[in-house]
Amino acid sequence: MSAPRPGAATPPATGPAPSLSRLTRHADAGRVLLEGVTKRYAARGAAGVDAVAGVDLEVAAGEFVAVVGASGCGKSTLLRILAGFEPATRGRVEVGGRPVTRPGPDRGVVFQDYGLFPWLTVAENVRFGLRQRRLPRGQRHRIAEEFIEVVGLTRFADRFPGELSGGMQQRVAIARVLANDPAVLLMDEPFGALDALTRTTMQHELRRLHRETGTTVLLVTHSIEEAVYLADRVVVMSGGAAHGVPGGIAEIVPVTLGEHRDVNAADFNELERRLSELVHAGHRPE
Ligand SMILES: Nc1ncnc2c1ncn2[C@@H]1O[C@H](COP(=O)(O)OP(=O)(O)O)[C@@H](O)[C@H]1O
Ligand SMILES: [Mg+2]
Repeated sequence: MSAPRPGAATPPATGPAPSLSRLTRHADAGRVLLEGVTKRYAARGAAGVDAVAGVDLEVAAGEFVAVVGASGCGKSTLLRILAGFEPATRGRVEVGGRPVTRPGPDRGVVFQDYGLFPWLTVAENVRFGLRQRRLPRGQRHRIAEEFIEVVGLTRFADRFPGELSGGMQQRVAIARVLANDPAVLLMDEPFGALDALTRTTMQHELRRLHRETGTTVLLVTHSIEEAVYLADRVVVMSGGAAHGVPGGIAEIVPVTLGEHRDVNAADFNELERRLSELVHAGHRPE
């Protein structure tokens, strides 16, 4: 790939700490638990097929977990279940110690097809959730400005989504979710539509915000490099319809590279290579 490496670009200047912080949350609010989770999609006139089966995963509050795996292994399915968009067929799904039954403000969702309100400006889109939370007007404006700056769209705050490129719209969606300071951030290929340089900037910002806010992050990504650069642990999924077995977790690999990660370092590349092998192995050890 010719894309700039995440660690290669100059990190943006560190801005002020986010206006909302983990101090406003219950310490355990960001804990995520999946136990024996199975999702079966009904098929017309057939018994249906398990998209994922027997998924066990525990994520500590404040942890950053990346999820990688070949297409069709159930990554998006797991995120949609955690988001509360659809129920698991079997198993236990909890966030902050409570069963997930529907979407909620404790979970911020950035999916590629998760749209903005086209009739609201960029700033109004970002302020939307803050308004619902009945924050005072001054605070709403300050927080929105801050996160619009984080995603580099200050000059576009008064534009409408339809006037922006797909990548810029995606950045608005990210700002909108971050502004709400969710206990858990669920991101499904959030940077896929961005150009390489913007993607690198957004990775730096996500890393910084994660450190500052203590938000739990579950990030589905195609990029193993992105996973190793950002995550505390990388969940490798495998299986799926193409393999004739339900999708599931093949391996969970801790990233023991410390705080300052150098994408050109030997240990970074070694971990990338190992994860790449696991993903491409494609089968699921029994
Ligand atoms: N709404 C649905 N109805 C039927 N099958 C689905 C539905 N959503 C996903 N699937 C199937 O579930 C499996 C996992 O899909 P998905 O979670 O999107 O995988 P990934 O995100 O890892 O590419 C695939 O075989 C897919 O075809
Ligand atoms: Mg997917």
